Amino acid sequence: MFAIWPDIRMSEHKIKIPAGEAGAYKITVGTEILGSVWPQIETDFGRYNKFVVTDENLVSAGHLEKLLDSREVPAFVISPPGETSKHINTVISIIEAMEKAYLGRDTLVVGIGGGTVGDIAGFAASVFKRGVPVVHIPTTTVAQADSAIGGKTGVDSSMSKNAFGAFRHPAAVYIDVATLATLDERQYRAGLVESVKHALIADSDYFDFIENNLDGILERKTEVLERIAHLNCKIKGVVVETDPGERNLRRILNYGHTVGHAVEAAGKYELLHGEAVAIGIIAAGLIEIEMKLAEHARLDRIRTILEKLGLPVKLPKDLTENSLIDIIKHDKKAVNKWPRFVLLTRIGQVYSRGGQWAVEVERLIVEKVLRNLQE
Ligand code: GLY
Repeated sequence: MFAIWPDIRMSEHKIKIPAGEAGAYKITVGTEILGSVWPQIETDFGRYNKFVVTDENLVSAGHLEKLLDSREVPAFVISPPGETSKHINTVISIIEAMEKAYLGRDTLVVGIGGGTVGDIAGFAASVFKRGVPVVHIPTTTVAQADSAIGGKTGVDSSMSKNAFGAFRHPAAVYIDVATLATLDERQYRAGLVESVKHALIADSDYFDFIENNLDGILERKTEVLERIAHLNCKIKGVVVETDPGERNLRRILNYGHTVGHAVEAAGKYELLHGEAVAIGIIAAGLIEIEMKLAEHARLDRIRTILEKLGLPVKLPKDLTENSLIDIIKHDKKAVNKWPRFVLLTRIGQVYSRGGQWAVEVERLIVEKVLRNLQE
């Protein structure tokens, strides 16, 4: 869809939201840049008091120490790290900690961590004193590829996921691919799915690059990871600039996510998001074959990459077609209790119908595909 091959020497991307330089935010990409991020934040956001939001993983990995370099900055360390803390109660604790530190509307929230930290920090920033700016320093594959870019934030209620949420576009994003070195192997691999997704929806050269560099990716070679980070920023940047509020084009970022979200929920969140989306990408590929948008060979290529990344490509045995269909009907983007699907016409090109990027798929096809995914 997009002719994308950024100059690898370029270390910055700009996302213009709202469209135009005035609202643009900068994404800086590099290796071992964490030590220079705070001086940069001071230069760019000098008039703000800073408040750091992070979690215990970042402290034990030494990343917080590297960022702050003995500076005394008020901070909230989320404990335990991970999904269970992505709850509105954590946001309340953060806001109270900011009040105790006498912070006001001249506060900049700096979130350093994975997707959970970004969601919590972004949402806390969006509601503190009716909204203060947030800077993201993502340190996981999923956060660097996806969640730190584009402004979606959300935390859970005691009833449901992301019951509280807001669009809060960051004031800046700093991506240091060297921070991925300490990431747990399962999290590392699962987060790569969002990069595969970007390649699939937007850039066949990027897909070839992933296919040809799987060893380097798994060895966490920083030059490979930097290129991937640039391509992710470029692709996601173009999409969210064009459609920040997800009216149409931004839906392409949900490729593999309709079935993926259902698998995640039906499996009681035992699979990581990326693992569930890997299964969802295979489901989308099978739908494309049923709808004559693809040949088997294309899906075989995609499946091979996901398998080499150690990701699941079939449904877990205990998930039934019926339980998945029930959850799919509750998809938040469903129309008349049936969701729209993002599909490909080829690698790098999303299928559209009637100007829409997410399209209806017959229920019989989805049911057949879910049965096939169980075998
Ligand atoms: N993660 C999909 C989006 O940001 O729209």
